[in-house]
Parts: sequence; structure tokens; C-alpha cells
Amino acid sequence: MTELMPGVEHTPLALLMLGRQNDPLSERGVDCPGDLPPASDPTLVERAREAKATLGKDLFVLGHHYQRDEVIAYADVTGDSFRLAQQAAARPEAPYLVFCGVHFMAESADILTADNQAVVLPDLAAGCSMADMASFEQIEDCWDVLTDAGVADVTVPVSYMNSTAAIKGFTGRHGGTICTSSNAERALEWAFAKGDKVLFTPDQHLGRNTAVRELGLSLDDCVVFDPRKESGGLTGQQLRDAKMLLWKGHCSVHGRFSKESVDDVRVRVPGVTVLVHPECKNEVVEAADLVGSTDYIIKTLEAAPAGSSWAVATELNLVRRLANAHPDKTVVFLDKTVCFCSTMNRIDLPHLVWSLEELVAGRVPNRITVDPDTAHHARVALAQMLALP
Ligand code: 13P
Ligand code: SF4
Repeated sequence: MTELMPGVEHTPLALLMLGRQNDPLSERGVDCPGDLPPASDPTLVERAREAKATLGKDLFVLGHHYQRDEVIAYADVTGDSFRLAQQAAARPEAPYLVFCGVHFMAESADILTADNQAVVLPDLAAGCSMADMASFEQIEDCWDVLTDAGVADVTVPVSYMNSTAAIKGFTGRHGGTICTSSNAERALEWAFAKGDKVLFTPDQHLGRNTAVRELGLSLDDCVVFDPRKESGGLTGQQLRDAKMLLWKGHCSVHGRFSKESVDDVRVRVPGVTVLVHPECKNEVVEAADLVGSTDYIIKTLEAAPAGSSWAVATELNLVRRLANAHPDKTVVFLDKTVCFCSTMNRIDLPHLVWSLEELVAGRVPNRITVDPDTAHHARVALAQMLALP
């Protein structure tokens, strides 16, 4: 994400990252950037080790698979967003959880942990452009539109983990569930057993791909609700006829892979198996050989025979790590024009060292907290996800 997206409401974090807003950290008097060690500091590795050793059992570091290698090296657990949510919930003894991931993941960790546990995001600018595409006000307006069309009572909200705590709170308040890319199918099955329609936010691609590929719905069963248009750009009849109401949101990384890059890699790498994340567009997923979550991608490559060739469409840090971990296999990145998730990449070794040393000094930097009412309802929706079969 390098530019503002027209018509999309950006959070202060995203605006800060894009240099379009004053630094909310300095406005709040949070003393981060001033003390940040330079990336060239040769003692960073030693300092990170020392601070971790000093904090001992008081510290638990979580690292999402899309993080840089220099950060993953210090993670006590690595995983996709589902596993990290589970792991955060399973660490009641750790007073400090340093979350190397993005803002919505740290919010979920705060929701799932006790009040006396502090969740720290080493750089507050590590937001998510997809999560920013659905605001609380927009989803409330959307629900009003569904109510006017007479379908709100039969609609179950299913919200992707990649959403703000406010959206998760809305989902819990309206009897829905959260899902991740590893349990979206089960979440949709659960929701359709409960209601006639699903409102899926904010990633239209994950919603569409799961509905069509896993549940056997047709593309015509899906409509896209555009929060920037009057009534979502849909008529009452369209809302009544549809089974899947897909929010108009997407991932700025996965949404960029193209069908052309699938066709191209099949020519460049004979015998290649194309493995893509379900946040990719439907035409990409349809052209690929295998589709699955970050966790599925990792396990598939682990189980692949030596000598096999793979083109992978997910975040570049992970694809590089997989290529290095499997030198006996050919692992290429699907599309040369797609790059790192810039917000995931905000967390680097200097920010990690700075947060750990602040904790050693008895200060809690960049604490992520969710207000109690939102947290209560979001917890209901997250608990529903964790209880999915
Ligand atoms: P998962 O961790 O659920 O695979 O989600 C991918 C992603 O885009 C995380 O930001
Ligand atoms: Fe958000 Fe996509 Fe980055 Fe994940 S990879 S944090 S969904 S922008």
C-alpha cells in the first residue's frame, strides 16, 4: 500500500504510514521514534537476545508468518492469524505479549487475554489496508439497508479475522462469527445452518472463493455490497435474492496476483504446481492448482516430494522463507510485480529491540487495548470461531 485508495476510509495508522497525517504517537506523547535504534546498529541482535533473556517467562513473542526473518528469529510461536489467536489465549501466565503482526491481530490478542496482560505492537503503523476498508459506521449503515430490505433477520454476519475490533464487536452483537482463511468453510457452514444469508466482511475474495469452491454456491448467489454507494449499490430485490453478501474489500497484496501470472509461470516453469491463498481473486484461484490458507501452503510444501516445482501466491517474506527451507524443491513467487505487505514489514528488528528494552525498563510501549464493550461482543464472535468444529 503506497497510495491512498479513493473512497476508502483510512485509519489514522494507515494515514500515518502514508505520510498524510501528523504522527499520532508524538501527539499522544508516546516516545517511540526518538529512541529507535538505527537499523545499522551492529548490536541489535545481541540487544534483542539480552532483553528477551531478561524478561524471561514474563514475555511471550508472537510472530505472524508474513513477518521479516529478522523478527521471526525472536518469536516464541509463529503461525497464521488463527493459530496466533489461539496461542495468545493460551498464555494467561505472560504479563507481556509482543505481537509481531498487524494491528487487528494485536487487538484480537488483547480481546482474548486478561486485563492484567499487555499486548504490545512494536510499530503502531503496522495496520492493514483490508481491515481499513470496513468501518463500524459503514457496517451499521449496511445493516440498516438490510433491515429496510427485510433481510437482516435472516442474515448472519461472518467477519474475517482481518477486521477491526469494532467490526468484530458488531459481528458478536448480531449473532455472527469470526473466521480466518483456515476455517472459512466451517464458519460459512455454521452460518448457513443458522440463517439464509451471510454478510461477509471485509474480504470479498475469501468470501466468494469459499462460497463457490467449498460450499458449491454459484457466482450468481453472490453480490458485492459497496459501502461507498447508496444502499451498497444494490436493489432490495438483489439483496433478497442473494445468498452471499460480500463486502467490497480486498487485500492489497493477494488482490494483486493475476490470472496472467498463472498462465505465465506455467510456461516459465514446466510441471509447476500453482498454490495460492484464498484472498486472491476468483479468476486466479480458478486458474491455480491448489488453494489454501497460509498454514495449508506451509504444510503442502513440507509434504511435497523433492524435485517438485511450486509457484506460490502469498506474502513474499513467507515465500522466500519457504524457498530457503526447501532447497530440494523449486519454489518461486507467482508474480514478479507483487511485493511485501508494507504494513507487516513495518515491524523490524529496531522496533522489536526498542519495545523489548522499554519493557525491561518497566515501561509498556505501544499497548493495544480495546474498549470493554467492544471487547465483550468481539470476544463472543471470536469464541464462536474458536468453537467451530
Ligand atoms: P492468514 O494468517 O489467516 O493466512 O491470513 C493472511 C493474511 O493476510 C494475514 O494478514
Ligand atoms: Fe492486510 Fe493483506 Fe497485509 Fe494481511 S497481507 S496484513 S490482509 S494487507
